[in-house]
Amino acid sequence: MDQLDKNSLKPVFDKMLSKEEKEWLLKQHSVMIWLTGLSGSGKSTIAIALEKELHSRGLLCCMLDGDNIRSGINKNLDFTTDDRIENIRRIAEVAKLFMNIGVITIAAFISPEIVMRELAASIVGKDDFLEIYISTPLEVCEKRDVKGLYSKARKGKIDDFTGITAPYEPPLNPDLTIDTSDITVEEAVGRLLELVLPKIDTRR
Ligand code: ADX
Repeated sequence: MDQLDKNSLKPVFDKMLSKEEKEWLLKQHSVMIWLTGLSGSGKSTIAIALEKELHSRGLLCCMLDGDNIRSGINKNLDFTTDDRIENIRRIAEVAKLFMNIGVITIAAFISPEIVMRELAASIVGKDDFLEIYISTPLEVCEKRDVKGLYSKARKGKIDDFTGITAPYEPPLNPDLTIDTSDITVEEAVGRLLELVLPKIDTRR
């Protein structure tokens, strides 16, 4: 888009109903719960269980997950650093739309580099961004190999595979760290609830 086109945009964000007005209707405060970690670390499993738990408490959530998003809106993206950045940028923009209607948004993406997660936080707003590190070690993820991708990556059949031929940078200061080789899904969800409920449930 050239400069002329950009100047012709007149966003009406300030004229629309605010995030706070939508949150008032739902009696909740929307935050972004961002799960990062290796493939097979347990992000999706925890996100699904957390969404169910919050839903059962009357809290409206939306879950965004790597394989889902990459089968739809981001199906044209690959696993190069540039494409992963674009993947995360689009996800964060979509998450922002949900958050602006008061919906608690749970994201489960490898998001392997610090810069990618910083980008996501800057798009949705740092105050409402919770970074959860699913720290399950590579050896455990590889042993599980739920999707058979580690074995393919070791044989050189998949390029840029996170943890094998592409980097993973752990968060420096996560809001919570969960290693699923140490605790059960129920325990992981329990820890997440302790962190998020005081921030999101405005009925308490
Ligand atoms: S991210 O790095 O851009 O955040 P994302 O979470 O969307 O990744 O997608 C990760 C999923 O894509 C993995 O769980 C796995 O199923 C699949 N995948 C396919 N190729 C790769 C690859 N080269 N590296 C990592 N994951 C891959």
